[in-house]
Amino acid sequence: MLKRKIPPASATSTFRYLDLFCGCGGFSLGIERAGLACVAAIDIDSHAIDVFKTNLPDVEHVLCRDLTTFKPEDLADLIGKQKIDIIVGGPPCQGFSRVRKVDGTNHGKRLVEDPRRLLYRNYLHYVEFFKPSMFVMENVPGIRQAAGGEFFKSIQLDARRLGYRVHATMVLAWQHGVPQKRERQLIIGTASKLPIFSTAIYVPQTHADPEMRVNSRRPGEQRGGRGRKKKLEPPVTLWEAIGDLPPLQIKSGEFDADYDPVRGREHLERYGRRFMLDVLEVHRSEGLTGHVSRFHSERDLRDFDRLREGESSKQALKRGEEMEFPYDRSHFLDRYTRQHRDKLCSTIVAHLSKDGLMYVHPTQRRSLTVREAARVQTFPDWFLFPSSKLISYRLIGNAVPPIFAQAIGRGVKQYLSAALPVRPLSPMPISPKQAVEWLGPVIDIPVGSNRLRNLPMGELKKAWFSVGFLHNWLHPDGVIDNGEEIAEKVDVTALLAAVAPQIAAPAYVVSGWPTQLVPLAREAERRFRDGQLRFDEYYYSDAQVSGWDWCRKNRRSEWARKITN
Ligand SMILES: C[S@@+](CC[C@H](N)C(=O)[O-])C[C@H]1O[C@@H](n2cnc3c(N)ncnc32)[C@H](O)[C@@H]1O
Repeated sequence: MLKRKIPPASATSTFRYLDLFCGCGGFSLGIERAGLACVAAIDIDSHAIDVFKTNLPDVEHVLCRDLTTFKPEDLADLIGKQKIDIIVGGPPCQGFSRVRKVDGTNHGKRLVEDPRRLLYRNYLHYVEFFKPSMFVMENVPGIRQAAGGEFFKSIQLDARRLGYRVHATMVLAWQHGVPQKRERQLIIGTASKLPIFSTAIYVPQTHADPEMRVNSRRPGEQRGGRGRKKKLEPPVTLWEAIGDLPPLQIKSGEFDADYDPVRGREHLERYGRRFMLDVLEVHRSEGLTGHVSRFHSERDLRDFDRLREGESSKQALKRGEEMEFPYDRSHFLDRYTRQHRDKLCSTIVAHLSKDGLMYVHPTQRRSLTVREAARVQTFPDWFLFPSSKLISYRLIGNAVPPIFAQAIGRGVKQYLSAALPVRPLSPMPISPKQAVEWLGPVIDIPVGSNRLRNLPMGELKKAWFSVGFLHNWLHPDGVIDNGEEIAEKVDVTALLAAVAPQIAAPAYVVSGWPTQLVPLAREAERRFRDGQLRFDEYYYSDAQVSGWDWCRKNRRSEWARKITN
């Protein structure tokens, strides 16, 4: 069905990954470009697999399989004894999406019984079997609340039980050059013997927030890697992404057309190369595919005309505009949105395949074409989608934006190749006994007292590095997201549980943080935000590696052996 035109830049790499629930290959395209090598990609959808194969022909095993029945052992039979360094993928998100709330699937019995919500377990079976150094799971923000937070909690808990330190973080795609309001949840697991991975360190923000989002949500997100202040690029607007494409009437355009070089040159002069050439690679595509407008009824078109640029039907109605579509003022107000040229586009979702009414072109009487949606998702122009609009919109909406995946890929590569050496910290405990001694007085400070806030820096560092030394599974960012549930017992093996069980439990179930350590972690975070603690001090990798080394050197003690095994 598809003919591939221009091969993507391929790179040789020593890091090998599996892409589970790979869709049409948005995630893979990005991380391949960062220089990682895909060993196998798996998805149940034959259309997605066709598109993946067409556009990423160098991947040897691109398999159309159901991951609930195709087991890791089956894959191992195919690929042989290759070491897998990373597993990436996004178990389907529809079950969690806020967008689908309307049909009731995000509630009650139907929520829990929806089999798609358990696909993360199949993903973790692959992690358990292949034991990669790290895994990266992408999902919609709705996963945090689904089933009262049950899935969000279980994924993290199960991953910790498999021996991974979990970093769950929200990412804002526009901060990485995606012209879209897309927010996504990443759940990243790293083998607990490795230093800390944090998106704040390895996937730093590169593009400024538009006015609406000036503040970053996480410590360090406005900074470059390792805390260096970096100049941010302006965000990419919708018009920078699509403004060079020829105007279309309703239901017009050819699937395979010529690109207009004159419009292209003008656009390049106005915006420069950063998106057109570096992301869309317009110069590497032989033509323009998928720029075909879809059908809308005359009534919809007249309603489109009533919308100002950047306005939704709800806003238009509030301003006193009368719309023609039949609406009940309490329910159907948000039927249309006309996008704004100079702002971020609304999040591109699979639902776009249904009608496109929330994606009305900023200046024309139509919704976004497949090519425009692909560009907003940062797919290069040479990346081919099928002629069926329905299928294409779905695949595009489901994808991880390749440019964002590339940023993740770069960070992962840097992390795994230890390009950022772990900087020695001081003072570092020499034994678990000393760490407990250093921690004790700080734990004893009553909650809410000013003593923690006024604790001399030397004392705070001693206690904070002791936490890292004693508990390899904790991630400093996790303390922001503890959740509410507390477990009286902990079942992950950590030095802390062996030497000071009275501190190790109870612990928050989602983050794994012992409740008694939370005030200290919050104080460390406050000092980090104020610039009193350095980046490498807050993300105390050296402390975690030191604790791990201590266990390796002291394997004669049974619990140290347990931890390093
Ligand atoms: C969110 S999309 C993944 C998009 C992909 N990461 C990308 O960047 O293009 C989820 C994918 O899971 C696939 N899927 C759903 N159930 C599956 C199953 N049982 N086995 C394998 N794949 C499945 C869907 O077909 C869909 O392509």
